[in-house]
Amino acid sequence: MSDTVVLSNNKRSHSDDIEGGDAKKTLLSNNSASMLPTDPAAALASVRHEFGEHGGVNMSIETSATFTVMEPETMGRMFSGELGPDRDFFIYSRHFNPTVLNLSRLLAAMEGTEAAYCTASGMAAISAVMLQLVGCGGHVVASRTLYGGTHALLSHFLPRVSNITTTFVDVTDLEMVKEAMVEGKTKVLYFETISNPTLAVANIPELSKLGHQKGVTVVADNTFAPMVISPARLGADVVVHSISKFISGGADIIAGAVCGPASLVNSMMDLHQGALMLLGPTMNPKIAFELSERIPHLALRMKEHCHRALVFAKRLKNLGLKVIYPGLEDHPQHELLMSMANKDYGYGGILCVDMETEERANWLMNHLQNYGQFGLMAVSLGYYETLMSCSGSSTSSEMNSEEKELAGISPGLIRMSIGYIGTLEQKWTQLEKALTKLKEHDLSHKN
Ligand SMILES: Cc1ncc(COP(=O)(O)O)c(C=O)c1O
Repeated sequence: MSDTVVLSNNKRSHSDDIEGGDAKKTLLSNNSASMLPTDPAAALASVRHEFGEHGGVNMSIETSATFTVMEPETMGRMFSGELGPDRDFFIYSRHFNPTVLNLSRLLAAMEGTEAAYCTASGMAAISAVMLQLVGCGGHVVASRTLYGGTHALLSHFLPRVSNITTTFVDVTDLEMVKEAMVEGKTKVLYFETISNPTLAVANIPELSKLGHQKGVTVVADNTFAPMVISPARLGADVVVHSISKFISGGADIIAGAVCGPASLVNSMMDLHQGALMLLGPTMNPKIAFELSERIPHLALRMKEHCHRALVFAKRLKNLGLKVIYPGLEDHPQHELLMSMANKDYGYGGILCVDMETEERANWLMNHLQNYGQFGLMAVSLGYYETLMSCSGSSTSSEMNSEEKELAGISPGLIRMSIGYIGTLEQKWTQLEKALTKLKEHDLSHKN
């Protein structure tokens, strides 16, 4: 049976303990990464299918926190780094775990990176990458439109705990980015591929070129655009994800990932110096299993999120509303996104509507949830239900008023993560009805 062969390839036998001396030190490399198709769904389908222990179509969950060895000497060889997970030698699940590693291989294939490793949250991935790449007193150049938590990490937490400072820039202004990077001092250029919440699109090839000219590692947060954009294929060195969003799709799991060169991922798991190994925000294998079952339909889900977001964005614009959506031709980076996006996925599943005041934004969201069943007032994104939040007073509230203004976050900005539950027309009718009611409300308040 062919699956037995696949399985036995992955199993360690007694003789492996004895013959494992030629194992490489770096153990995560997805050797075929450069040979995988460039389309993320095609790349995912090319990854070796992991069967269950008894031939099950789903992989088994390796729940063990610790692992045995056949020979007492093997333990020392694993701790010295001579034997590792690429030969199925595992030490302890805060280090590598087989089930988490399988999910990580999928993410590496999806992003076209040599390696990946999954974390307990998106923030764990981001903070571990920063701490690994930027030493004490180091410098970061980052986009000024970032998820509020990342913004707070860079502007408050890292300066306090490690004197890591950040210069915030408009990443759509390449000259400004270039000027901000100081060769030898700046370690990381950090941006979101499609920014939270303003949906500005980063010019990944140009930003990567600029970063590399100054010896800077380019880190892209691709939380808003899995499948749609492949930052590493466009030049970025490291891709981070909040898996909690589209990749999970269920709004029931908090998780993250770091995708990048095997050398970086291995360094993050190093027993002496690894930010993931030593700070410990690794993923639970039961969670890794759940997530690995959702990856095969991520492409389908993304296509539907993106399709509905585009239809709604166009229709809302036709009604005269101020809509921000990179799929609209009037979006400043529409052409850029078209040039970078993977074919046939769309332009992202998030759109923003600027309702001008927080009062109007709240009125509309309240009606959409409590009278129209259009969606839910909740932060986060990538759920099958539409999620709506007023970013300025929620996920970007960590930023002060000046920072919000610079980032283009107006008080009435509603971020909508467009879901795919129900039919498109059913959902549009609910949205349109609430907007008609808002018009009536506006008129009655004028009189
Ligand atoms: C763009 C972006 N990056 C990172 C994060 C943090 O992810 P997590 O909530 O999984 O820690 C978020 C979360 O809201 C986000 O929107």
